[in-house]
Amino acid sequence: MSQVFSRRNLLVGAGVVAVGTGVTYYLNQGGNKVGSFTQPEVLASNNGVLEATLELATVSKQLGNAKVNMLSYNGTVPGPTIKVRPGDKVKLKLTNNLNQDTNLHTHGLFVHPNANSDNPFIHVMAGESFDYEFDIPADHAEGTHWYHPHLHGQVANQVFGGLYGAIVVEDDNTPKVSEDRVLVISDASFDSSGNLAEANMMGLMMGREGDYVMVNGEIQPQGKTKKQAVERWRIVNACVARYLALQVVGGEAKLLGLDGHKLAEAEDLQNRVLAPGNRADVLVTVNADKVSLVYNTVAHPDAGMMGMSSKEYTDYPLVTFTAEGAATVIAAEGKFQPLPDLRKSSVSTRRKFTLAMPNHAMVMGAATMEGMFTINGEAFSHDKVNTTVANNTVEEWTIVNTSTMQHPFHLHIWPMQLVSVNGEEISTLRHQDVVTVPANGQIVIRVNFHTHTGKTLYHCHILDHEDLGMMGVIESV
Ligand code: C2O
Ligand code: CU
Ligand code: CU
Repeated sequence: MSQVFSRRNLLVGAGVVAVGTGVTYYLNQGGNKVGSFTQPEVLASNNGVLEATLELATVSKQLGNAKVNMLSYNGTVPGPTIKVRPGDKVKLKLTNNLNQDTNLHTHGLFVHPNANSDNPFIHVMAGESFDYEFDIPADHAEGTHWYHPHLHGQVANQVFGGLYGAIVVEDDNTPKVSEDRVLVISDASFDSSGNLAEANMMGLMMGREGDYVMVNGEIQPQGKTKKQAVERWRIVNACVARYLALQVVGGEAKLLGLDGHKLAEAEDLQNRVLAPGNRADVLVTVNADKVSLVYNTVAHPDAGMMGMSSKEYTDYPLVTFTAEGAATVIAAEGKFQPLPDLRKSSVSTRRKFTLAMPNHAMVMGAATMEGMFTINGEAFSHDKVNTTVANNTVEEWTIVNTSTMQHPFHLHIWPMQLVSVNGEEISTLRHQDVVTVPANGQIVIRVNFHTHTGKTLYHCHILDHEDLGMMGVIESV
């Protein structure tokens, strides 16, 4: 392989149990077709309104040299990119032509969680339609978010199946760049007839990881860029359970923000780990003949013990752009306003959340693991409110993980500011909507429960864990 993909230091390499054989670089083996890089279709608002239909149906598509059957919004994997501006009204008709129920969640958007807005308690039956309506606040920050189904018990299956798409909020501060790209990373596995594979017990327990890792629904797609081009890459980790250690090879990569929330100061992307559900907004300056987004496996600390044998990826180029000709557009720096530092706010309430999952011995012989994944000893139940918060107060939460694997903790609607990890203070301003709680560790976050009242959710974004109960209901009153 070319020097662009030469072996580099692995952040997670040292001292970690190997999790199986090296990955087969699928497309680099004789005769396989190389997919070309394409962006999902864009549904953009016009004069403050976006009115569109998202139709769910099965789709048969080409993946590498195989024909596979997936689930789709509007016939593509990923679904269309929803592009809006602050102050917009978004009317989405969700038409469910699958033979299973579903619903829609706008992960990361600061919209209200009630009625026909970002309400995860809605049920859209097979064969039915539902009219969603979202009001994007006039002061909504620009950034990258995403949408996916949120029907408890089916979330992992449906996301694994192909149901996800990007949401882009643009405003006048959005930098002008040579290329503004959406890179939705997802994974899936198929049986020999090309149908989606079901998760086995171990997959459910550790969170399922697909055999194929895709960018915009292609395996290792190839695209074009220009020399010295400054591009914005909107990276979405839409994998059900896979952590992604990412770096850019062949370009300088500056991380502007995570989960749509800007850093006070752009940071180097190199080896940043995106948890399932995280997004990264990255400015890439092309400085070689080829520029790639490169992925390395983040090993489960207990993978050996669990007898897990998923593929290990080392310096795996997820997507590559070849530079031809010189860039003409010189990027303007965006001006971003990070969210206020909640460490300076007074805290009204402190709470503790303990995440727990069964160990191997506990699930041996069990018919189902449903309900064995818990928060504060309780599995998710629709008719229960687990946490009631007062609107317009700042809370401090300690999230404790009693298990031997990490869990990505997600709160709907309100961003979380990371204060400390395992007792170590975070020195910078870090607002995210998915934060990783290390194995046998704990984190402290602060949340400003402002503006919206109503009921929504917090949960592990390893979607198998969420479906098995690691989720709670929060109500802001
Ligand atoms: Cu991305 Cu509650 O989910
Ligand atoms: Cu969410
Ligand atoms: Cu989890």
